[in-house]
Amino acid sequence: MSGYVLAIDQGTTSSRAIVFDDSTRIVGVGQQEFPQILPRPGWVEHDPEEIWRSVLATAKAALADASLSARDIAAIGITNQRETTVLWDRETGEPVHNAIVWQDRRTAEICRRLSEDGAEAVIREKTGLVIDPYFAGTKIAWILDNVSGARARAEAGKLAFGTIDTFLLWRLTGGRVHATDATNASRTMLFDTGANEWDDELLRLLRVPASLLPEVRDCAADFGLSDPAHFGGAIRICGIAGDQHAATLGNACFEPGMLKATYGTGCFAVLNTGPERVASNNRLLSTVAYRLDGKTTYALEGSIFIAGAAVQWLRDGLKIVAQAAETGPMAERADETQDVYLVPAFTGLGAPWWDADARGAIYGLTRATGPDEIARAALEAVCFQTADLLSAMRRDWPGAADTVLRVDGGMVASDWTMQRLADLLDAPVDRPTVLETTALGAAWLAGRQSGVWPDAAGFTARWRLERRFEPGMDAVTRGRKLAGWSRAVRRTLSDTV
Ligand code: G3P
Repeated sequence: MSGYVLAIDQGTTSSRAIVFDDSTRIVGVGQQEFPQILPRPGWVEHDPEEIWRSVLATAKAALADASLSARDIAAIGITNQRETTVLWDRETGEPVHNAIVWQDRRTAEICRRLSEDGAEAVIREKTGLVIDPYFAGTKIAWILDNVSGARARAEAGKLAFGTIDTFLLWRLTGGRVHATDATNASRTMLFDTGANEWDDELLRLLRVPASLLPEVRDCAADFGLSDPAHFGGAIRICGIAGDQHAATLGNACFEPGMLKATYGTGCFAVLNTGPERVASNNRLLSTVAYRLDGKTTYALEGSIFIAGAAVQWLRDGLKIVAQAAETGPMAERADETQDVYLVPAFTGLGAPWWDADARGAIYGLTRATGPDEIARAALEAVCFQTADLLSAMRRDWPGAADTVLRVDGGMVASDWTMQRLADLLDAPVDRPTVLETTALGAAWLAGRQSGVWPDAAGFTARWRLERRFEPGMDAVTRGRKLAGWSRAVRRTLSDTV
C-alpha cells in the first residue's frame, strides 16, 4: 500500500488540498478562495455549494499536481474551519440556508438570553465553553427559527446538521455517512466532553432536536469510502479534526504542557493538558485537543478572532500596504517612542474578553503617527493578544509555566512579528520547517488510521525546528507595553461586559 495521503483543509477564506508522501513531504497542492457573504454588519455566511465545489476542485487539482490517481491514495483526512454551521435536507442533500460562519454575531441576543437564564454554569461544566455566538449551537437554533418550515422538518427527522467536516463527509460519501469527530462536536455547545456524548439538557436549552445530529467518532476512524464518481475511484476517509486540533497534531504537541498557536484569519492557541479536563477560571475554553483510540486528550484554548485579518484590513481597508509582507519591514522602521495601540475588535473580542459588541479602535495617535506605526500596532496587537492568552493559561494551569510556543500559519513568515511575539510573551517561539501543520495533522490522522504512517512517537521524531526566537526585551519595556495594551483593551470593551 502506498503511503500517499490526501488532506482536505477547508478554511474560512479558502479550500486547500495537499497530497503528502509517507515522509510527510508535500507532493501536490490545490487551493481556491471562495466568496465571503456579508449580508449585514456582523453577519458572515458561506454558500455550502461553493465550499463543496472548491473542495472537489482543489482535491482533484492536488492529485493532478502530484500526478497521482485515486488508487495511489491510501486515505483522505479532513480538517475544517470549525463551528461554521450547515443544515441540509437528508433526502436531497440541499442546504436549507447558507452556512453561518463562526465569525457571525447574529445570535448575540440568543446568547444574552441564555446567560440571563443562568445557563452559563451548566454549559461551562459540560462543554468547557463560554456562551458566545462563536459556537454552532445557537446558529442551528437561528436557522430553525428563521427558515420557513425548518423546525418542523427537523423535528420530523428530515434535516441533518453538520459542521463543515460533516457536510463534506456527507457529500464525499454520496450521502451515506452522517458523522463527525470529537473535536468538531466539542465546538457546538451541545456535546458533553467529559461523558463524550450529545447532551439532552443542552439540546433542550438550545432548542435543537437530537434527530439533526451526526454520530461522533474518534479523530482517526473509519469514516467510509468516497463515492467513486468524485475522484475516479473510491478512497477511504480515515481522519477528521477541526483545523486548530489538526494543527496541534501537525505541530506534534502530543505531550501535556505543549502549546501551539496558528496565525490565520484569527489566532488560536491550544495548550495540551493531557487527560485532565482543566476548568478555566480565566475565560479560556476547555476543549477536546483530540480523541484517539477512544481516549480524549483535552486542551485549554484561547481564540482570537482577528490576527491576519488585521493585516488584510491594512491592505484592503486602509490601503496602506499593497502586500501583507510589507508590514514586517514597516514595523521595523516604525518609531519605537510612539505607543500606538490597535485593538482589532472588528467582530468583537474573543478570549479572554468575550465581548461580542466591542468594535475596533486605535489609541495613541499623534501628528507624527504614520502608516509604519499603524502597521506595527496591527502586528503587535496579535502578539499582545497571544500574551493575554498565555498569561490566562498560566493562571489556569501550572503545566503552562515553562512552555515554548510552536507557531504556524501565514503570519509566522514575518521574522519581526515572531521576535516581537517572543519578546512580549517572554517565552521562546519555535517555528517548524513544515508550516502546513493543519493539513499535515489531518494527513497524519488518516495515515495512522490506514496503517501507512507512524504512530505519535514516530511522527514526533520527524518534526523539525526551522528557527527558535528567544525573548530579548527588557522587563521594563515589556511591562510598559503590556500595561498600555491592557488600558487600550479596557477602553474598547462595550457596556455589555
Ligand atoms: O474556530 C474557527 C477556526 O477553526 C477557523 O480557522 O484557519 O479557517 O481561520 P481558519
